Amino acid sequence: MPKIAYLESVRSHNRLSAETPQTLDPATLESLYVRYDMDELKKTAHRDNPAKYAAASPASLGMWRYKDVLPDVTPVSLGEGWTPMIQSKRYPGLFIKEEGANPTGTFKARGLGMAVTMAKHYGLKHLAVPSAGNAAGALAAYAAAAGISAHIYMPQDVPLANYLEGVVYGADVHMIDGLISDCARLVGEEIKSQKTAGLPTEDVWFDISTLKEPFRIEGKKTMGYELVEQLGWKYPDAIFYPTGGGVGLIGMWKAFDEMEELGWIEKGSKRPKMYALQASGCAPVSRAFDEGKPASEFFQNAATFAAGLRVPKPYGDYIILDIVHRSGGKAIAHTDEEILASILDYAKNEGIFLCPEGAAATAAYDALIKSGELSPNDTVVLFNTGAGLKYTDMTADAMHLRRPGTLPTAMPVGGIITPQ
Ligand SMILES: Cc1ncc(COP(=O)(O)O)c(C=O)c1O
Repeated sequence: MPKIAYLESVRSHNRLSAETPQTLDPATLESLYVRYDMDELKKTAHRDNPAKYAAASPASLGMWRYKDVLPDVTPVSLGEGWTPMIQSKRYPGLFIKEEGANPTGTFKARGLGMAVTMAKHYGLKHLAVPSAGNAAGALAAYAAAAGISAHIYMPQDVPLANYLEGVVYGADVHMIDGLISDCARLVGEEIKSQKTAGLPTEDVWFDISTLKEPFRIEGKKTMGYELVEQLGWKYPDAIFYPTGGGVGLIGMWKAFDEMEELGWIEKGSKRPKMYALQASGCAPVSRAFDEGKPASEFFQNAATFAAGLRVPKPYGDYIILDIVHRSGGKAIAHTDEEILASILDYAKNEGIFLCPEGAAATAAYDALIKSGELSPNDTVVLFNTGAGLKYTDMTADAMHLRRPGTLPTAMPVGGIITPQ
């Protein structure tokens, strides 16, 4: 595993040391990328390193199979990554990357697994996150595994599963009457007041918001390595990615840069077109794309049952839009009705229970197939970013589905299976 050479801000290319925990570039407030000595990496990192398949230890399983291109630290792992890629039954070129198979049921496990690993390495004691729901659940789990306190802020109307996992994993849970943007403000205010009150440094919360620390991108970049390896070290024609904060899209693009520099992918290979998919009820990126703007504007009154896409103003909107443009992709939004129809379609015809965010991607894929812009034979990797089963309450509500029959309000403890 390589040593981190430095951290680098996205646009200004300012360099910071990774010896101590960092958030943003203090000079520009830009996000930071983790950088390695690539000449060294060319000698030490092996694409087909057999050791990575060897021992059944967390240090070589799942996303840690790419340890040759990840920081040299001891992983806090729950088995994240190396998720299945399922070929569609109807479209030969469509591969659904089933991120619901991750611990805590979403791809958030990759970014938070990496961020908590680094937090443990740095000796941090308190981590805080504003979240649309699933990042909070993932932080709660990984923090519990690492013995670190998690302080999670999420909208009060997140899927019940997100609230439940926060409580079950023993996190400090804050349910907010507002959106992720309000949660971010509250986390920022709390940290500021802790500093003003002169709390000892180790008691001040560390903010691991999307794109406000460098390691969530580093964890999510493994999706890029993984999908290329699963396709025989070849790029697909396109990638469909449900986009809220856009960390995965940014991370995958970083992975492609690294893979090309390391010679892990054939020279001259054409990069995939990157499609950023959103819900019409909260579509800042697709609106900016349609209007030809380089960054988004705050999306007022954001509302969609694709809870993970309720990000009214992504911090890295300009990075997402730049990648989408450079790749020749698009940013597209679909309505909740279209998203629900796609959930039902893929469940009945493919046996896959998509999360609403994943169904925003399938809705867009189907529309582009219908219009002829895409062919069913084009190789497309589409991210189902979470398990549909994490959204039983939201999806049932969207379907107006209620259980038939009358249930007792409380079951007797032990129920009918307790021996007399
Ligand atoms: C299931 C799911 N899909 C997609 C997203 C959006 O992810 P990102 O912020 O990486 O764009 C989220 C974010 O919460 C999510 O929970």
